[in-house]
Amino acid sequence: MNTPSQYADSANLDARIELHRRYSLNPQTWFDWLFDRLVIPDTSHILELGCGTGELWRVNEGRIPRGWRMTLTDASEGMLATASRNLADLHEPFAFIPVDAVAIPFPDHTFDAVIANHMLYHVPERQCAIAEIRRVLRPGGVLFASTTGAGHLQELQDALDAIGAGHALALPEPSFTLETGRAQLGEWFPEIRLERYPDALLITKAEPLVAYVRSLLNPHQPNEAALQRFESWARSEIESEGRIRITKDSGVFIAS
Ligand SMILES: C[S@@+](CC[C@H](N)C(=O)[O-])C[C@H]1O[C@@H](n2cnc3c(N)ncnc32)[C@H](O)[C@@H]1O
Repeated sequence: MNTPSQYADSANLDARIELHRRYSLNPQTWFDWLFDRLVIPDTSHILELGCGTGELWRVNEGRIPRGWRMTLTDASEGMLATASRNLADLHEPFAFIPVDAVAIPFPDHTFDAVIANHMLYHVPERQCAIAEIRRVLRPGGVLFASTTGAGHLQELQDALDAIGAGHALALPEPSFTLETGRAQLGEWFPEIRLERYPDALLITKAEPLVAYVRSLLNPHQPNEAALQRFESWARSEIESEGRIRITKDSGVFIAS
């Protein structure tokens, strides 16, 4: 199945979620904020593509309407196994199925809503995936597609560039962003609204930031020398300034 190797299991995603959990300034977490945006009828069948570790549902345990039925999918079986373990105690109607977003194995008009949370930028054949989402949505159904924008983690990339590690540790440039997503969804969804989530990271320890940058490296060619340079920079910055501030720029397209 078509999944980036960084997601063979949940370790890389866990490192990223952990950094956001510990150091985000917005008291409302991303997953809580996103859940607020899921305006979906009380009786609905929901498909999540690229569900990762199932964090959206774990964080919002207790807020899930009784009439919702959730089909959680991911192209990575390792990720899906973690999601299934993480949600085992929730006693909600979850199904876990390996699915590549470019070939969704469900009939036309199956779902009332589709959630693609920070995942469409990983799909090279994105137009194919968006067409598939449209196909499996019922008439009047809604797609929630979240992603990041141009300012996301800008100070982190600037720091990597300044210490000469920008090439070795370059942050990925998403191909589906808050700036470019509307045009990509527009072919299939006539109505699109964008909501932005205001936040930043105020980081006071070097280790989780280094783990975050490590999680983005090619596991087959990790550039340890560049990573060590970055770690020294992060430690001295925190020692002298007490913290490192990094902008977050994320949001969700609500398309129908
Ligand atoms: C950045 S993670 C986001 C996970 C989760 N939605 C979250 O926000 O915590 C991206 C997820 O998309 C999955 N993924 C990547 N390409 C995919 C594809 N073509 N079809 C389905 N899932 C895919 C990855 O395995 C990974 O779990």
